[in-house]
Amino acid sequence: MLNITPLQPLFAARIEGIDAAREVPAPVMAALRDALDRYAVLVLPGQRLDDAAQIAFSQGFGALEMTRPGALGAGSAVIVLSNLGPNGEIVAPSDKQVLNNKANRLWHHDSSFKPIPARASLLSARQIPSAGGNTEFAFMRGAFAALDAAEQARLRGMVALHDFGWSRSRVDPALVTEAEKTQHPPVRQAVVLEENPYGPALYLGAHARSIDGMTEAESRTLIDRLMAHATEDRFIYSHRWTPGDLLIWDNRAVLHRATPFASTTERRHMVRTTVAGQRPTIAAAA
Ligand code: OGA
Ligand code: MN
Repeated sequence: MLNITPLQPLFAARIEGIDAAREVPAPVMAALRDALDRYAVLVLPGQRLDDAAQIAFSQGFGALEMTRPGALGAGSAVIVLSNLGPNGEIVAPSDKQVLNNKANRLWHHDSSFKPIPARASLLSARQIPSAGGNTEFAFMRGAFAALDAAEQARLRGMVALHDFGWSRSRVDPALVTEAEKTQHPPVRQAVVLEENPYGPALYLGAHARSIDGMTEAESRTLIDRLMAHATEDRFIYSHRWTPGDLLIWDNRAVLHRATPFASTTERRHMVRTTVAGQRPTIAAAA
């Protein structure tokens, strides 16, 4: 039914045999959802999607998040990641759009700063640069499984504070407004997610500021060490985009980031839809 080709020893797979612009039969959609649980990153080549078709297909994975105020596409179900202005011109490096793209170069889980963080993201390439601008993924179930049992036990039950204003300010103080900080106060997330049928996953990324019960310095040491471990080569899949690629990833099983490209001379235009999570990562956040 689905033609699945693994892309990396631990996770990520290419999926053929689906036209995402047409209605996907329910059993195929169910198989895709299971493939997302199993592989965490799915690459669907050769798709031709406009925004409406991407939204319709994405809804097969669950209800969609609305794009936050301050991001391109605010108030709709698509978020645009692009260095292009409304007339297709390349925007200035100081433009908020470009600064947002710079923030995406840090390893992160989409929406981990929301009380109920995103389940999945779907990203389609509308224009890609001739070099660079890859999207890279780090497999957080593999990273957790590779820790020793004592550390796994210690991390389970830990809670991290995810703070959007703090993480964005680290990229560029001009990137976050007071209104955005108010819109996204710090939230608490489990450090280990237990919800995936294929195993527990570490959950950290750029917004993870501190750990409950630890000082900022102790927190930083722990978070930095776990992030370095999770982003070792053995846990990485780096996607070199081809026109027509649609990527789907499980934010509760992988980190991702964009790699740099010549953003003052080349065009990169990507459109994302985001599948909302169904429950908080910790009971107390409800
Ligand atoms: C995203 C994101 C990275 C990229 O769409 O959420 O982080 O490569 N994208 O554009
Ligand atoms: Mn992202």
